[in-house]
Amino acid sequence: MTSAAPHSAPSAQAPNSEMSKVAVSLRGLWKTYPGGTNPAVRNLSIDINDGEILTLLGPSGCGKTTTLRMVAGLEHPDAGDIFFGEQSVVMTSKRMFMAPDKRNVGMVFQSYAIWPHMTVAENVAFPLKARRFPKSEIKERARKALDLVGLSGFEDRPGPLLSGGQQQRVAFARALVTEPRVLLLDEPFSNLDAKLREQMRISVKLLQKRLNIAMLFVTHDQIEALSLSNRIALMNFGVVQQQGDPRLLYEEPANEFVRDFVGRTLLFKGKVQSGNPSGQLAIALEGAPDCVVFGRTYNPDSIKTGAAVYIGVRPEDVEILPANGSTPPAGMIGGKAQAALFVGERIEYQVDVDGQSTVLIYGERHRPIDEGSKVWLKLRADGHSAWTSDWSHKQE
Ligand SMILES: Nc1ncnc2c1ncn2[C@@H]1O[C@H](COP(=O)(O)OP(=O)(O)OP(=O)(O)O)[C@@H](O)[C@H]1O
Ligand SMILES: [Mg+2]
Repeated sequence: MTSAAPHSAPSAQAPNSEMSKVAVSLRGLWKTYPGGTNPAVRNLSIDINDGEILTLLGPSGCGKTTTLRMVAGLEHPDAGDIFFGEQSVVMTSKRMFMAPDKRNVGMVFQSYAIWPHMTVAENVAFPLKARRFPKSEIKERARKALDLVGLSGFEDRPGPLLSGGQQQRVAFARALVTEPRVLLLDEPFSNLDAKLREQMRISVKLLQKRLNIAMLFVTHDQIEALSLSNRIALMNFGVVQQQGDPRLLYEEPANEFVRDFVGRTLLFKGKVQSGNPSGQLAIALEGAPDCVVFGRTYNPDSIKTGAAVYIGVRPEDVEILPANGSTPPAGMIGGKAQAALFVGERIEYQVDVDGQSTVLIYGERHRPIDEGSKVWLKLRADGHSAWTSDWSHKQE
């Protein structure tokens, strides 16, 4: 198992007033289910700011829903604290636990979970009725919430007579109508088809800009996470592996799990030519006469000049060109395109790379290259990641 991320905040204190923008603060949360051998959530600390979408991303069973349920008050953490702003919601050391109905959180789940025997307006008004809001206010708030999700005019429609996307919008309106401190979203789009998911993603992003609300969003879909989040906390086995803005996770993954979960990575073998203390390494690609690129490592101290490393390259940082001559020019490495797969938006080439293994390279649709022909791969000069596993002893 990989260790906790260098980016996670270990502090166990309440957020101070300088951080008043923090809407929800989770501090050192642990949760093991009765009968469970391993904790579902281990020492989890994250903050969600007002006006921010923070996404919990990770494979099935990594503890995303458990975390969300602890925020909602549907699960008791074994250890740790939860704050809403500066207010304590859970303090396990003091056995303090605020009941779910006192927390004012909005929730939207994968299943639409709108009540079939009610109209759209009745569905949205329900949480306000339960809290005994005055009738006139209920009507006005429900109207506003439906307007926010683009469902004005649907008030009297029975719930079941809506499309999946519309039902999910009703669920959003119902979650927003109480003006919650935080909106909790657990895979809210996973029952929708691909086109509708894209639309809903954009709607939520626009909605969030208008409302300036804090959202804790759960998904195992990395595209959804990358496109929608201000920040992502990537989890595995209950542990946050790295948190930060989507670009940080994509461009500077903290460990191999993050690298492989977020996007695709091509691994090339190389040898370290030089390095600096900030972790930038100049790496000469194995099998190329003159191809040196720069990559970042998180543990520069352990890497010596001449060490065998892997360099992690994102597919869009490699260009494939027909070979023109026998020796690849500077910055390029040679290979042979074994297979070309036309996938619509691009062509994918299975390339045997000189001195390396086989990699899948993305090529431009308008510049096809013949199967079986020699190619050159041109790597971006910098912005890669470097990984210390020594390939020189491994059998391919
Ligand atoms: N009520 C429960 N009782 C016992 N174990 C549970 C319970 N709920 C979840 N677990 C276990 O806790 C771990 C985390 O589950 P959780 O539902 O939080 O995962 P998740 O990240 O939401 O996964 P998914 O993407 O599949 O929804 C899993 O190993 C799961 O089997
Ligand atoms: Mg889940």
